[in-house]
Amino acid sequence: MTEPSAHPSLPIVRTPAALRAAIAAWQRQGQRVALVPTMGALHAGHLALVTKGLGLADIAVASIFVNPKQFGPGEDLDRYPRDEAGDALKLAGAGCSLLYAPDVATMYPPGFASFVRVSGLPDLLCGRVRPGHFDGVATVVAKLLSAAQADVAVFGEKDWQQLAIIRRMAADLDIGTAIHGCAIVRDEDGLALSSRNAYLSADERARALALPRALLATREAILGGMPVAAALAAGERTIKAAGFVRLDYLELVDGETLHSLGAPAPGARLMGAGVIGTTRLIDNIAL
Ligand code: PAF
Repeated sequence: MTEPSAHPSLPIVRTPAALRAAIAAWQRQGQRVALVPTMGALHAGHLALVTKGLGLADIAVASIFVNPKQFGPGEDLDRYPRDEAGDALKLAGAGCSLLYAPDVATMYPPGFASFVRVSGLPDLLCGRVRPGHFDGVATVVAKLLSAAQADVAVFGEKDWQQLAIIRRMAADLDIGTAIHGCAIVRDEDGLALSSRNAYLSADERARALALPRALLATREAILGGMPVAAALAAGERTIKAAGFVRLDYLELVDGETLHSLGAPAPGARLMGAGVIGTTRLIDNIAL
């Protein structure tokens, strides 16, 4: 059952059954469907996921669900920005055909008792400071992929670790949906777009640039022949000097296994995460 939305050309469904029925109807007509899972508060990075989906399939379907299971105690679940009507307009403008926006009781009805946990990958990098976060992500993404049974699903590369975990889970669970990553979209000055950038004051926003700049400088240093440990230490100093109250990690890792690398290797990725003010930011670049 679809309902009228803020934008007349973007119907909204709120149950897994309605989502599956709409997608199955398109697939019966021979159309391929791309799913773009989001938590809303959409920016140009999310709309790039829709554009990428439309390059891989005929129809793009987005979901908006602020997933309580991926927020830890004291994290920003309550203040996470929510604007379904505004998001629906943006999605329609980007060419999206349907929005799936279930409420918490629909996603996790009373008695819900299952968790999807990928072992290994979630313990690294962000997982060290956000225990349980990636179990919440894997659980909700498994549910979204299972309900939608889309042909492809698109996730942003800004959360490279999340993408690696979702790829692993989809392969391990024989999920028939092909998982695609979409390149990070940045503001002109280089800051990766994030819904959480809305929390930054003007001063924090300016100082947050130290993260992408340190990633670039570290890459230059490593490619210029500096030992990885020395290049990372210099990058860490830059980030701390900019006033990050916490640097969770600056690491060179294998892009698939996420294991730390002590030397450049094919597929290597430089990953960084830290807290400026009260806002936690993540970023990464290919080596
Ligand atoms: O990246 C996000 O926005 C979320 O982690 C996701 C993949 C939609 C799962 O809630």
